[in-house]
Amino acid sequence: MQTLDDLLNEGVAGRRVLVRSDLNVPLDSSRSSEESPAPPRVADDGRIRASLPTIRALADAGARVVVMAHLGRPQGEIDPKYSLAPVAERMGELLGWPVPLAEAGEDGIAGASAMEKVSQMQDSDILLLENVRFEAAETSKDDDERGALADRLVALVSDGPPGVPGSGAYVDDAFGAVHRKHTSVYDIAERLPHYAGKLVLDEIEVLRRLAGGSSDGAAPPEKPYVVVLGGSKVSDKLAVIKALLPKIDRLLIGGGMCFTFLKAQNFEVGDSLLEADMVETCSQLLEEAGDKIVLPSDIVAARELDESAETSVVPAESIPNGLKGLDIGPRTVETFADRLDGARTVFWNGPMGVFELAPFAEGTRGVAEAIAALPGALSVVGGGDSAAAVRKLGIDEQRFGHISTGGGASLEYLEGKTLPGVAALEA
Ligand code: 3PG
Repeated sequence: MQTLDDLLNEGVAGRRVLVRSDLNVPLDSSRSSEESPAPPRVADDGRIRASLPTIRALADAGARVVVMAHLGRPQGEIDPKYSLAPVAERMGELLGWPVPLAEAGEDGIAGASAMEKVSQMQDSDILLLENVRFEAAETSKDDDERGALADRLVALVSDGPPGVPGSGAYVDDAFGAVHRKHTSVYDIAERLPHYAGKLVLDEIEVLRRLAGGSSDGAAPPEKPYVVVLGGSKVSDKLAVIKALLPKIDRLLIGGGMCFTFLKAQNFEVGDSLLEADMVETCSQLLEEAGDKIVLPSDIVAARELDESAETSVVPAESIPNGLKGLDIGPRTVETFADRLDGARTVFWNGPMGVFELAPFAEGTRGVAEAIAALPGALSVVGGGDSAAAVRKLGIDEQRFGHISTGGGASLEYLEGKTLPGVAALEA
């Protein structure tokens, strides 16, 4: 795989470089009301900051950096709600100079107006294209449709300034999107000299260590190896549970997904989130895993998901009807911390409760603190939500070995799947 360093060694001064970053960040629209509309602000800029080293390295070397990214799932239509304008603004603040946004026109995100902006760029300039998912072709299953969009995007960078040899290169740094077979992460690599960005390389390096012992000859992860999973759906995590169970010592399960496991033990889960069609699968997993899987023993429950709701701590085996489990309880936090103690390798994906609301944040905080406190362990936080939780709860990111920017992508890597974006870079 060619890397950013290879590209920098070739020399990029004056060259137009198309960079795919993952800038899919949560937005906060709370300042806006009908009476005084205000543009949304970036609520968590972790992914923007993680994308800057690659962008900055290219700009510092004199490249003309054209960044493309997606935000949300706008279904192939130009929808101002999903504009990357707040992201361009935040990126400019972080860099210390403005980052212009090439607005989408009737001819899409790579049309005449983008072309004009690109042609005005000087060396070291950075330009952000509008949300690539404003183009229906970006996520199309049809190779020709995706290919046609790829041709339009490539045209933006292929004609360099006169006299600059070999203009036009593609850097994929969007680790969070490498599991998607989309134009911006897959088809463009077939059309331009392509290189892996710093973030993609860092993420793969760490995940390789977690997946270790697989066919690529990586050393097995140091033991004890503990995985902590949360988040709402068992179905999203099933494949990774199956792939990891033989390699790990313990699997601690919290978050909305724990209730389906609790139900599989014939416990009463009240009005908690439940995937009824997964109960049988969870039963089988519990049987296969023996005592590797650790479930909550107490739960913070409330009638409503509300900041001011009255909460109670109830036993995990008998959540009363009318109450929803919204966080793991204090006894469970202690048990999980105890089971994490001494771990040499930890992978954590998914919050333990609805951490966005203070009454249901303590489970996630307790587990995050327990992981952050492990001396010398390889601790990896995977997934946008867990990473955002760490930052929102004010826990120093440096206390973790690695905070992954990719939720689905890191899970699919650990499942052993081929990631289209990585395969395209390797080709
Ligand atoms: C993410 O948020 O995990 C990535 O940006 C990918 O987004 P997607 O799930 O909408 O493809």
